[in-house]
Amino acid sequence: MEETVQIVYQGKTYTFPLVEGTEGERAIDIRRLRQKTGLITLDPGYANTGSCQSAITFMDGEKGILRYRGIPIEQLAERASFKETSYLLINGRLPNQKELNRFSVLLNDHSLVHEDMRLFYQSFPRGSHPMGILSAMVNALRSFYPELQSLEEEINITVTRLLAKVRTMAAMSYKISRGHKVVYPRPDLAYSANFLNMMFDSPVRPYVIDEDVVRALEVFWILHADHEQNCSTSAVRMVGSGRVNLYAAISAGISALWGPLHGGANQAVIEMLTEVHEKGIPVRRLVERAKDKKDPFRLMGFGHRVYKTYDPRARIIKKWCHLLLDKLRSADPLLDIAMELEEIALKDDYFIENNLYPNVDFYSGIVLRAIGFPTNMFTVLFAIGRLPGWIAQWKESMDDPDWRIARPRQIYVGQRQCDYIPLEERK
Ligand code: CMC
Repeated sequence: MEETVQIVYQGKTYTFPLVEGTEGERAIDIRRLRQKTGLITLDPGYANTGSCQSAITFMDGEKGILRYRGIPIEQLAERASFKETSYLLINGRLPNQKELNRFSVLLNDHSLVHEDMRLFYQSFPRGSHPMGILSAMVNALRSFYPELQSLEEEINITVTRLLAKVRTMAAMSYKISRGHKVVYPRPDLAYSANFLNMMFDSPVRPYVIDEDVVRALEVFWILHADHEQNCSTSAVRMVGSGRVNLYAAISAGISALWGPLHGGANQAVIEMLTEVHEKGIPVRRLVERAKDKKDPFRLMGFGHRVYKTYDPRARIIKKWCHLLLDKLRSADPLLDIAMELEEIALKDDYFIENNLYPNVDFYSGIVLRAIGFPTNMFTVLFAIGRLPGWIAQWKESMDDPDWRIARPRQIYVGQRQCDYIPLEERK
């Protein structure tokens, strides 16, 4: 028998269906709540609200589980490529060899960016944050690549263009910001190696591709590829629900990701650790500040809305910090500070009681620094990684039979009706 939930309100009992996911999470389907009772729900930050049913990513925040299309993140980080992971998220299954080859050819064919777009880049003031530039440029893609007649072709080509071009555009923005010559994509290089080459190759110092560095970047991107209904993904779905084009929806996702509480945390962590290093601040002082309710400071790279245990992505990226630094035979004082900070925080009552553990951003910046990326590119790298997830979520929402334009309600707490006062009578 179908299970239901009953709500008693003003002496009347109302029955609502219970929805159960494949992994056993349960929700009350309140679609008819207002119609039946006149009530709405109030849930700031949507901590208790399921905005959709989705078959893309599963997270269990209590157990520290993350799976894309059912496959554990640990297996993907160990064995898959970022391209395969992107295909998996967007198409719902892993590609066979023929499909993967075809996908690679398409990504290569679409990797160039319209030359006129370079003029746009040159018009941004020097020192502009690359996230603002990327968001504007992705939105501008619609003007350069107008809508196609067939809907299926339009979606397929837009998806491929985005995956191929965002990587080129990100590298281009870096080169132009430094006043250096733009490096074009090369057909002989795979997805991540090609990006590294566009970022770091120069006429005076050819870039030597190191397979471990390529793999570290691939792992970073795989770990960031999707994370169900987070802030930026919800922005993509919300903006997309107005049936806007995919470029505009992704541009909204990039803007949402920029914030320091979301994707911008990887940059904020490195800035925090650098300050500790340069000013010789005792690590314990950061923990004390994070606990002080009068101080707005938060320990960047700690805490998560869903994970109430160690973020499984943080475990993997921490391992890569050590692997990469060992391989490059370099040491990073920020890694030592991060490890000391983690050790102190994990034993501290405040962090234990609030279930605050390191999240993916706590260690990812150290891997990106070791590869040679400047700090202000970190969130752009997160955006490239999250792109397949945004696309998959957008596609799923477009095909959702339950789709409706996203339009939450509110509880109004402002002034009750009052009269307009002419200007001359106002105090
Ligand atoms: N440092 C100090 N206190 C914290 C922190 C932190 N990093 N995170 C949460 N708290 C406290 C918070 O003040 C609250 O205390 P109280 O109940 O006394 O007011 C309690 O812990 C519960 O936290 P919350 O604010 O209700 O948690 P949330 O789910 O609303 O926010 C978060 C999640 C990630 C925004 C938050 O933990 C945070 O600001 N962390 C630092 C920024 C960061 O690392 N962000 C990256 C997240 S992972 C990558 C991504 O998904 O983008």
